[in-house]
Amino acid sequence: MEVVTALLAWAMSYTCRNLASSSLGNLCPQRDITAELNGRLSPDAEIFFPGSPGYAQATNRWSVLDAPDFNIVVAPSVESDVSEIVKYAKSRGMPYLAVNGGHGAITTVGKVQGGIEIWLDKLSSVEIAADGKTATFGGGTLSKTITDTLWAQGKQTVTGSCECTSLLGPGLGGGHGFLQGRHGLISDQFVSMNIVLANGESQTIDKDSDLWWAVQGAGHNFGIVTSVTSKIYDIRYPDWAYASFVFTGDKVEGLYGAINEYLLRNGTQPVYLLNYSFFFNDPSVDPEKPLIIFFILQEGVKAVDPAYTEVFNNLAPLTTNAAGGSYTDLPSWTGNSNDAPPCQKSGLVNIRFPIDLQAYNIAAQRKVYDMFASATQQIPALNGSLFLFEGYSLQGVKAIPSDQSAFPFRGDNLLVSPLITYAPSSPELDEAAANLGESLRQVLYEASGRKERHTYVNYAFGDEAVKNWYGYEEWRQARLKALKEKYDLSGKFSFYAPIA
Ligand SMILES: Cc1cc2nc3c(=O)[nH]c(=O)nc-3n(C[C@H](O)[C@H](O)[C@H](O)COP(=O)(O)OP(=O)(O)OC[C@H]3O[C@@H](n4cnc5c(N)ncnc54)[C@H](O)[C@@H]3O)c2cc1C
Ligand SMILES: *[C@@H]1O[C@H](CO)[C@@H](O)[C@H](O)[C@H]1NC(C)=O
Ligand SMILES: *[C@@H]1O[C@H](CO)[C@@H](O)[C@H](O)[C@H]1NC(C)=O
Ligand SMILES: *[C@@H]1O[C@H](CO)[C@@H](O)[C@H](O)[C@H]1NC(C)=O
Repeated sequence: MEVVTALLAWAMSYTCRNLASSSLGNLCPQRDITAELNGRLSPDAEIFFPGSPGYAQATNRWSVLDAPDFNIVVAPSVESDVSEIVKYAKSRGMPYLAVNGGHGAITTVGKVQGGIEIWLDKLSSVEIAADGKTATFGGGTLSKTITDTLWAQGKQTVTGSCECTSLLGPGLGGGHGFLQGRHGLISDQFVSMNIVLANGESQTIDKDSDLWWAVQGAGHNFGIVTSVTSKIYDIRYPDWAYASFVFTGDKVEGLYGAINEYLLRNGTQPVYLLNYSFFFNDPSVDPEKPLIIFFILQEGVKAVDPAYTEVFNNLAPLTTNAAGGSYTDLPSWTGNSNDAPPCQKSGLVNIRFPIDLQAYNIAAQRKVYDMFASATQQIPALNGSLFLFEGYSLQGVKAIPSDQSAFPFRGDNLLVSPLITYAPSSPELDEAAANLGESLRQVLYEASGRKERHTYVNYAFGDEAVKNWYGYEEWRQARLKALKEKYDLSGKFSFYAPIA
């Protein structure tokens, strides 16, 4: 059945590309769409459809589970193209989805079937304002472009830690990053933006708009941002250093106990200190049990202060590593650079099951380690999975009052998430993978003693409830719903973690 459908689709796209006869128009919806759109778009805008060169690159995604399925890709080359595409889609009743870095893995986007991908790839630009206090970024600008361009001018701003994600993909849902301890989330930097709404109109909004609150945390629900002006900063601390430690599984208690005591300190970890760890399998070192790698990142130094590393050295790590460098080295040190595995789009399923925590519950860390170990042994297809524990510094995030934006979880200390990775194969494997992810986070949730389950929207699997993504407070829910009704009653932007 699937083969037949694929053949038919191939045959149709082949026909559409190669036969000029307009009598075939009704067999070639893509040809119609191309013709209709071409007249509306700027000269450098591009259109791709299945089978055409560039289509695969434009639709390639980090995670292939429940990926959206498009009839056509349109790549706007100027901001006003986005408005034209949205108006066109509206007139034809077609669904559409903005695609940026292509790392949005939430399964809710799989509900896009047969629409337009609005590929923001060409809207990549960085323009620093004359006063050097803000910069305007095109809606499709990726993290590394931003960091490197600003860096060359002695500036920086908060981006996600991964070079290959965009600014706005993470930023519209808050956006965690290495500089959040200093300056807050990505969305806390926004000063104004151009956004195309569901009616196709472009608006420039800032703090005076009722939408402003919502685009800082629930922004994927309201429009397509074609450019954003954000705060930028002079580089005060170009130097950074890291120390890393690899431990065997018998050190789970010692490690997470020490992190709680010496690093987390009840969420008062110093602003210049970040930590990050994950479980992973490396059969060449230990064929049976996952290892744990732990990173300490310190700002403003050429080597991590021994006061922070001593306790971890005393735990007898298998190996250690350390280096000094600059802020721009952080992604490669932590395995998030463009050439690192997490940035590749290699046809794998990558699903996360996030849960925010205040501190590590040591017994629960042991339990999830053991579960992760036995599941990745029993199901070798899942053995490339990781279990991530991110401890960014928090001062800048917590400094902003919680009610000031739609980002709901400023009080939380740790961002924790299994990342289950595998080559797609069968519904049974999908189910086993989801069950593993769910059970791991359930253990941590139960052990946390928290009533509320906070699941960072940009890591979400897709089966969580709206309050898990956007907060439990009734007033938040009501405010989001009211804005959704006002700006997107028909749910055009209800594919990525929809409010409604
Ligand atoms: C390796 C890796 C590292 C990560 N590190 C971090 C991190 O440090 N901090 C963090 O907060 N998150 C991080 N994430 C999670 C990240 O926030 C999400 O994966 C995010 O969806 C990626 O954005 P994207 O542009 O790459 O994805 P896309 O799939 O292109 O975009 C995701 C969704 O955002 C919306 N969207 C994108 N651009 C626009 C726009 N201009 N206007 C309106 N809507 C838009 C669309 O709805 C789209 O479906 C990481 C993810 C990965 C895979
Ligand atoms: C890791 O970061 C978290 C969050 O700030 C903090 O609570 C914890 O103490 C840190 N641990 C270490 C070892 O730095
Ligand atoms: C952590 O903070 C809470 C709330 O402020 C406080 O009650 C508790 O005693 C603190 N714990 C430690 C170990 O400092
Ligand atoms: C995963 O399992 C396969 C098959 O047993 C094995 O060849 C591979 O080395 C394993 N990889 C990891 C990271 O454990």
